[in-house]
Amino acid sequence: MQILVLHGPNLNLLGNREPGVYGTTTLAQINDDLRQMAEDAGATLESFQSNHEGALIDRIQAAGQDGTGFIIINPAAYTHTSVAIRDALSAVKLPFIEVHLSNIHQREPFRHHSMVSAIAVGVICGLGPQGYRLALQYALSQRGA
Ligand code: DQA
Repeated sequence: MQILVLHGPNLNLLGNREPGVYGTTTLAQINDDLRQMAEDAGATLESFQSNHEGALIDRIQAAGQDGTGFIIINPAAYTHTSVAIRDALSAVKLPFIEVHLSNIHQREPFRHHSMVSAIAVGVICGLGPQGYRLALQYALSQRGA
């Protein structure tokens, strides 16, 4: 199975960015770990990060055509604002899990609402980088389902 991991704005800064909230693991470490985990399970995994809403939408649309079977997405700040990312996810009809490093429900009220949760297979938040691993474990378990 081909799995796509999408990271939204500012997640390229992980490691330095508000380490008290997001931890010290870098995005490269998260991506390498997930790629290895997928490879060990005989799957392929590609990661893509962008600070631009349109680039994320273009990648989601491409996933509808390129054999992607499952998406793991942390839309970051776009989680709370982007009708367009939600519409792209609806359009491609690929199953996806929404992941957040922090527990968005323990934070400012504007982070409590997600535009994409209602159409996600599931949502994981507050578990740091391990949340991505758990999402990947689920995606792998769905092969052939
Ligand atoms: C985040 C939470 C969002 O509210 C925030 O804008 C982010 C990261 C998380 O992973 O905890 O950039 O998605």
